[in-house]
Amino acid sequence: MNYKKKILVTGGAGFIGSHVVRLFVNKYPEYQIVNLDVLTYAGNLANLRDIENKQNYRFVKMDIVDAESITKLFQAEKFTDVIHLAAESHVDRSISNPTEFVMTNVIGTVNLLNAAKLIWKGEMEKHRFYHVSTDEVYGSLGEIGMFTENTAYDPHSPYSASKASSDHFVRAYGDTYGLKTVISNCSNNYGSYQFPEKLLPLFINNIQHKKALPVYGKGENVRDWLWVEDHARAIDVLFHQAASGSTYNIGGHNEWTNIALIKLLCKIMDKKLGRSEGESEKLISYVTDRAGHDLRYAIDSTKLQNDLGWTPSLQFEEGLEKTVTWYLENKEWLEHVTSGDYQNYYEKQYEKR
Ligand code: NAD
Ligand code: DAU
Repeated sequence: MNYKKKILVTGGAGFIGSHVVRLFVNKYPEYQIVNLDVLTYAGNLANLRDIENKQNYRFVKMDIVDAESITKLFQAEKFTDVIHLAAESHVDRSISNPTEFVMTNVIGTVNLLNAAKLIWKGEMEKHRFYHVSTDEVYGSLGEIGMFTENTAYDPHSPYSASKASSDHFVRAYGDTYGLKTVISNCSNNYGSYQFPEKLLPLFINNIQHKKALPVYGKGENVRDWLWVEDHARAIDVLFHQAASGSTYNIGGHNEWTNIALIKLLCKIMDKKLGRSEGESEKLISYVTDRAGHDLRYAIDSTKLQNDLGWTPSLQFEEGLEKTVTWYLENKEWLEHVTSGDYQNYYEKQYEKR
């Protein structure tokens, strides 16, 4: 079949990437979607079982840090566009191992940019390099204000510093070599297929097994939560409609302190698990704070709403309940990803807190 576009999606076996791949494969049979992922601990092909046999989908196992292989792949496959999500994504891991984040998030991104620049030379305007980034590049807010697209970068963790660096490289390749880029900076995502090192799936898993809920510091940090499928929808809209060289913020207008969110989660879980109200809250345990812990993130996504009409589709309480139900109904998935290496990670991460 002659496809209209051949899109390389990197990190498609991860949390957000798998939702993006699923959306594009199902919605655009006229596009071929090639999912490139090295399958780190966070990459899991089981996230894509429902679409793995679709005609317009292919998987390639490759490391974006491996410049030679990436260049050869681009030369052989002649991708028309790139949607780049592959990254090391967990702040706590970046604190223990910053270099890995530089390698994947910075060097890996530059390798993809180089390969795209090489094969798209002379016809840049026909192609698009879409880079998926985070609101954490903007640093931390006080009690008021929101991040806009004009907020200066001020990253504090090795993770956010590496993502900020990759954003700068993407912009630099646009300015210097004429690559047609789009960058989006999104707030905290929640939903199905998220690796249980991140707050929500970790706490859902712990509540289920009546394990302690390690709340960092006083639990007063604020995050702006967005349903992952709404993020994937925003990426679809931006990929097709954003002007080249543009940046867009994506967020849920949905701020919660960690502790309020955790208490709501406990309440939902008590109901779903047939436990008495207040039972799961007893598992809350305040532990040593994350180093350099950003106090508050809040995204102003007015530009995306005004320019392209995107708005979040789900109310948070509804989305959270849906998410809890998914993890409870997909125990096998959760058990699979929390076996093996996960146990070592968990002990190392939480034993000293
Ligand atoms: P994730 O950790 O769940 O998935 C990352 C994927 O990238 C995994 O499948 C992993 O195997 C793959 N990967 C890692 N290193 C690789 C390498 N060297 N080569 C090839 N593949 C590699 O991450 P996520 O939460 O889905 O985040 C995806 C992207 O979205 C990241 O760029 C992240 O910075 C960004 N983001 C995440 C959030 C969030 O709340 N999770 C919010 C905003 C932006
Ligand atoms: O804002 C977007 C970012 O959101 C993404 O770029 C990152 O990839 C993603 O991991 C996420 O970063 P956070 O650090 O905000 O997410 P995390 O789930 O790790 O933590 C959410 C909040 O909960 C944060 O304030 C730290 C706190 N927390 C987290 C864990 C894992 C706890 O209190 N206890 C925990 O055990």
